[in-house]
Amino acid sequence: MLAVAVLAAGKGTRMKSDLPKVLASLAGSTLVERVLSSCEHLEPERRLLIVGHQAERVASTLAAHGGLEFVLQQPQLGTGHAVQQLLEPLQDFEGQLLVLNGDVPLLRPETLGQLLELHRRSGAAVTLLSARLADPSGYGRVIAADDGIAAEDGAVSAIVEHRDCSEEQRRNNLTNAGIYCFDWPKLAAVLPLLATNNDQGELYLTDTVALLGSAMHLEVADPQEIIGINDRLQLAECEAVLQQRLRRHWMAAGVTFTDPLSCTLSEGTTFGRDVVVEPQCHFRGNNQIGSGCRIGPGSLIENSRLGESVEVLFSVLRDVEVEQGCVIGPYAQLRAGAHLGAGSRIGNFVEVKNSHLGAGVKANHLSYLGDADLGDGVNVGAGTITANYDGVRKHRTHIGAGSKTGANSTLVAPIRLGDKVTVAAGSTLTKDVPAGALAFGRARQVVKEGRS
Ligand code: UD1
Ligand code: CA
Repeated sequence: MLAVAVLAAGKGTRMKSDLPKVLASLAGSTLVERVLSSCEHLEPERRLLIVGHQAERVASTLAAHGGLEFVLQQPQLGTGHAVQQLLEPLQDFEGQLLVLNGDVPLLRPETLGQLLELHRRSGAAVTLLSARLADPSGYGRVIAADDGIAAEDGAVSAIVEHRDCSEEQRRNNLTNAGIYCFDWPKLAAVLPLLATNNDQGELYLTDTVALLGSAMHLEVADPQEIIGINDRLQLAECEAVLQQRLRRHWMAAGVTFTDPLSCTLSEGTTFGRDVVVEPQCHFRGNNQIGSGCRIGPGSLIENSRLGESVEVLFSVLRDVEVEQGCVIGPYAQLRAGAHLGAGSRIGNFVEVKNSHLGAGVKANHLSYLGDADLGDGVNVGAGTITANYDGVRKHRTHIGAGSKTGANSTLVAPIRLGDKVTVAAGSTLTKDVPAGALAFGRARQVVKEGRS
């Protein structure tokens, strides 16, 4: 039987933020969600989340995650005090308890699998993850057992927090990751013995290691996995590690990045083969980028689906669908609910929102298309505006297939233009136009000679 407890009650003082630390975000998901997903594959019987600082905010962020038991720690008197809160909910539990710090977000699921396996094999009361860090400052140090057992055996006698270390202990770079597998009944027996005789005056979970008497550690091969986030510098370091992992993955899968370090990706973004990503492009949320697309330079794409061979140059796309072969930008903005039919062309300073464009639509310059339906092959003249808002409600504009709007046309919605309509330049139309008609909506030019 396995239970997992995630420690997420702390304030995160060193972040200097109004947001609880475990809700800080890395490559689009929060620290605590990352920690939770690292142990999902272990299929624990129980999943407990210890919350305290802004508990409701943390709980509501995780509302969609089923099967979580929230345990309140109030006030927060340290990591040992956090785990003491489990004595009641786990009073009849007999199995192993995996404790995860909520601020260690880069753990690989396989590493947790190895930790559990070692723990089951060795029979120790606790097995913990460790790593040798080039700069171990701030972390607890793992003190190998000094009873003659070689350190390589993995036996541990104690963990000492950085601020409680002697000079000599500080030189030890074997650090505690904050990830432990305990035999719960043994841990439950020593939890009440914790004391606050340390520099911070807190109850330390790490003190249970010495109290338990038999502890092992498993050193991870890749120390980056155990970076704990206490401040914004470490947050940035972790983001860099994650971004590097993502870019490497996609380069191996056939994506070209001409300047990889200048681009950021999200885990929810997938790319087809032979996509080229030029400098300064950013992908957020869930995106599907079709094969052969050319993105950038300078574009932001969020929660969008692009078909094959789409080109995007210096543009922003959010919550949109773009079919194959479209060309977008430079300087276009596609907003929520824009759908571009195959081979459409959206040019400079064109904004499209909540609109369905058929195949081969061209809107090359300076337009706003909002709440509109455009048939196939519509040509939108420079400066055409769909006036969709009457001050209270939004209305739709319909432009039939093959229609052309002249430069600087204003279409006041609700309005329907049939197929193959031509709108004269400079028109303001407020009434429907039947198919095949030419519509003017402006005063004729008057020239009075000799008046100047
Ligand atoms: C802790 C470990 C340290 C280890 C490091 C790894 C202790 C005493 N020290 O130090 O050995 O090297 O993690 O990153 O455990 N939390 C609570 N309630 C509390 C206090 C903290 O839930 O009362 C939570 C925090 O939200 C956080 C986690 O526990 O997710 C760790 O707390 P933090 O204060 O960051 O511990 P560190 O000083 O980093
Ligand atoms: Ca920490």
